[in-house]
Amino acid sequence: MTKPLSVVELRQRFPQDFVWGVATSAFQIEGAARADGKGPSIWDEFCRVPGAIADGGNGDVACDHYHRLEADLDLIADLGVTAYRFSISWPRVQPLGAGAVNPHGLAFYERLVDGLLARRIRPYATLYHWDLPAELQRRDGGWLARDTAYRFADYARIVAERLGDRVVSIATHNEPWVSAVLGYERGVFAPGVKDRRIAYQASHHLLLSHGLALQAIRQTRARADVGIVLNMSPVYPATDSDLDAAHARLEDGRLIRWYADALFKGHYPADIIEHLGADAPRLEPGDAELIAQRCDFLGVNYYHPTVSSSANPASPASNGAAVTDMGWEVAPHRLAELLMRLHRDYRLPPVFITENGAAYRDSVVGGRVEDEQRRQYIESHLIAVADAIDRGVEVRGYFVWSLMDNFEWAEGYRKRFGIVHVDYATLRRTLKSSALWYQSLLRLPA
Ligand code: FCB
Repeated sequence: MTKPLSVVELRQRFPQDFVWGVATSAFQIEGAARADGKGPSIWDEFCRVPGAIADGGNGDVACDHYHRLEADLDLIADLGVTAYRFSISWPRVQPLGAGAVNPHGLAFYERLVDGLLARRIRPYATLYHWDLPAELQRRDGGWLARDTAYRFADYARIVAERLGDRVVSIATHNEPWVSAVLGYERGVFAPGVKDRRIAYQASHHLLLSHGLALQAIRQTRARADVGIVLNMSPVYPATDSDLDAAHARLEDGRLIRWYADALFKGHYPADIIEHLGADAPRLEPGDAELIAQRCDFLGVNYYHPTVSSSANPASPASNGAAVTDMGWEVAPHRLAELLMRLHRDYRLPPVFITENGAAYRDSVVGGRVEDEQRRQYIESHLIAVADAIDRGVEVRGYFVWSLMDNFEWAEGYRKRFGIVHVDYATLRRTLKSSALWYQSLLRLPA
């Protein structure tokens, strides 16, 4: 149990220039799936596969953010955050993933960025939060194709040329492990492929595309910091048996070291290459160096630890633990441990917690949403971040996932992560009590 703190005490544990934000992603909130020249993404198509989405939902309307931009910007400003993390939909900008640019798409993100700046909120952009232009998947297998990495670098250049003078930060990818493993190995996310060899080749091309995009962005006049966002779910053995320890080591390699070693050490971990055998990806000369170029920041998304055993090599909770509505274990101290471990094992750039938050079953009662569990989740994880800062980890900012309830991928609209409630029948937004608390923390004089 963490000791309860007042908002004043909590705020005092963070540096004055700490970045306080909320996060979303394009497909999960925008809707307007076919508006103004947007092309289809692999998620638009995946949502139409019977049984792929738990509640049969899709991204056609979502939170209708595309049409409610100004009101949503006011909502974000009202929270008192200093930063907003959003993603750009590649098929809105380049409907076919290559060639022609859709001017309406770029104009939307320009309005978003300028609207944030006008409200004194710093824009943190992510180029890829899983919505690959469907045409690239159809044409040559999406991230299986090396060419997709080059198309991504073109797209990165287009965005950087237009917005790079105003966004403060550009992340290339959000959670490449999810794109590769859930999308191409387990097939539970778009594009729904189930093939380990393809998944690892895809993961290599995702990382390669990150390196190519860093180069492309740095060749423009963009002033934004550039980096990447990784999902970091630290792995623990379920028991102290040697067998569980071996499973945990392997899972840690697949989930954390595969990405962090490639980015910050310049090579994939040898034990995982050996484990993959014939399924290991093919690299070309120079790939490793491209991937390991200097990042200006690392984004860490943390929700829960992973518990490994022979029965289940990657469970999101240990037996009997307190869990959220996703079944994810609530373990804030694991976030502090994770940050310390990364700090110890890698030469890291400054770190941002780019996502952290929880799904709980909320309801509006008399115009209010009391989500004390979510508030406690956020508070306890902020304390963990402060602990890591005290121990020397350079954490520069924290973004709550999420600004508002939204399309939670294969779970559809059943899982609510927002600090703002969305009534999907009316699209009305209501600040939950966690949002009011976050607001009170952020509005304190620095
Ligand atoms: C992360 C995703 C984000 C959201 C949260 C709950 O893996 O980046 O889009 O779905 O999980």
